[in-house]
Amino acid sequence: MTTHLIDGKQTAEDIKAEIAAEVAALKAAGRKVPHLAAVLVGHDGGSETYVRNKVLACERVGFASTLLRFEDDLSEADLLAQVAALNDDPEIDGFIVQLPLPRHIDPDKVIEAIRPDKDVDGFHPMNMGRMVAGLPALLPATPSGIVELLARQGIATSGKHCVVIGRSNIVGSPVSILLAKNLDTANCTVTLCHSRTQNLAAITRTADIIVAAIGRPEFVTADMVRPGAVVIDVGTTRVPDPSRKNGYVLKGDVDFAGVAPLASRITPVPGGVGPMTIAMLLLNTLRAAKGEVYPK
Ligand code: GUN
Repeated sequence: MTTHLIDGKQTAEDIKAEIAAEVAALKAAGRKVPHLAAVLVGHDGGSETYVRNKVLACERVGFASTLLRFEDDLSEADLLAQVAALNDDPEIDGFIVQLPLPRHIDPDKVIEAIRPDKDVDGFHPMNMGRMVAGLPALLPATPSGIVELLARQGIATSGKHCVVIGRSNIVGSPVSILLAKNLDTANCTVTLCHSRTQNLAAITRTADIIVAAIGRPEFVTADMVRPGAVVIDVGTTRVPDPSRKNGYVLKGDVDFAGVAPLASRITPVPGGVGPMTIAMLLLNTLRAAKGEVYPK
């Protein structure tokens, strides 16, 4: 079976070009450009990279962007005050609070404090609930990016058995819901597996599409994959590697060398799902600015 890489980077570039064209039209019409703010607490290496890439991506499509940085001793009350200020700032169309947060801050409290119409991560229970109910919502970026990537790469989903590994609020749970929806871009039969799943390999071997979102490097091995399956790798774990200048190598949740020869299509890490997350965050920001989900 020949392996075909799923080029998330190129697909994300296509989406960003579409967004940039809309922003240019807004500007030409004398309208305000969308403005995304990102809040980063502390110095987690991965988070620093993600947030930097999000801010850069804003600039590339013509958005305004604001990065608010705080030390990791920021109190929960002070973070909630920042969220309230962003909620009330008419200049800001949408904002994200990068996760993970320091241990003394309850992420659920922070997410619930974000105004749903500015929640461009789609993490607020209002957006989650609307998504589950099939109502217009700001959708979480990585799950909607996976659905969009499959659609734009022409990968059939309707009636296919999709096995999702991992049940996080950010990826596993919402992507399992989206993929099971009665949509042109979804309509899968979904099995959600997690750390307590028994006979995991027997289940994953029945999958037409595997979405690996468990956060354990190289967890999905060749014996877990049916020849011809489509494999979507959401993992991005930094594994120490002294031979590299930056001291680490980015590993996905899939043993790429072992699985790629079996898979009909597979996402690389990096360059697969990651760029799609950023493109969908920008799309959410544009939708928020236009009042598409919650009319202004
Ligand atoms: N941490 C890992 N992924 C994400 C994401 O999509 N949004 C935020 N805010 N934090 C994250």
